[in-house]
Amino acid sequence: MTSIRRAEPSDIEAFLDVLATATARLHARGIQQWPPRFAPSKVLPDIEAGDAYIIWDGSDAIATTILNTNGDRDFWTPDELAGPAFYVSKISTVSGYGGLGTAVLDWCGRETARRGGELLRLDAWRTNLDLQKYYLSQGFRHVRTVELAHRNSGALFERPARDINTEAMLKYGLAT
Ligand SMILES: CC(C)(COP(=O)(O)OP(=O)(O)OC[C@H]1O[C@@H](n2cnc3c(N)ncnc32)[C@H](O)[C@@H]1OP(=O)(O)O)[C@@H](O)C(=O)NCCC(=O)NCCS
Repeated sequence: MTSIRRAEPSDIEAFLDVLATATARLHARGIQQWPPRFAPSKVLPDIEAGDAYIIWDGSDAIATTILNTNGDRDFWTPDELAGPAFYVSKISTVSGYGGLGTAVLDWCGRETARRGGELLRLDAWRTNLDLQKYYLSQGFRHVRTVELAHRNSGALFERPARDINTEAMLKYGLAT
């Protein structure tokens, strides 16, 4: 039985474990995205702000996401940041739950719409074209790619918050 819960500070290691598992999968394929394990300081502020979520299968953490209105000022313009958008980050899944990422993105979209947002946005690793193809397959539009020497991310995507597929959420118990 799977469900989504807002992460508590005591969930930090579970959150980082899922991210590390997803990263190990990428590194094994030669995709050098993300550090092997994020430092707690990269996630704890979002947990403390109530913006981080974990999807559980019983007592196993199987996916993560952060959802808030804090678009990255390096990438999004002031006009864009002022708009009615929510931003998803640190989305990750463990293996064995096909389509769970779709369900989590849809949950983020529904949550965005519920809170009055119109767009769901994210920034993705700039050189990872397969990841960018994934977001296109999920109905996102490529807004532009921002190249900054000190940042690896910067491929910007958005889609209407209401563009969701309830079946994917139902499959993973995220539709309630
Ligand atoms: C992105 C993610 C949440 C999507 O979950 P999902 O909807 O259940 O989809 P899947 O895991 O089946 O992945 C779908 C496809 O995208 C590809 N993909 C996903 N993340 C990728 C990445 N970071 N780099 C390259 N390809 C990636 C998968 O290899 C798969 O390709 P395939 O269809 O050719 O097999 C999950 O794949 C994940 O945890 N990826 C690693 C972490 C990550 O990159 N997060 C996004 C940061 S912006």
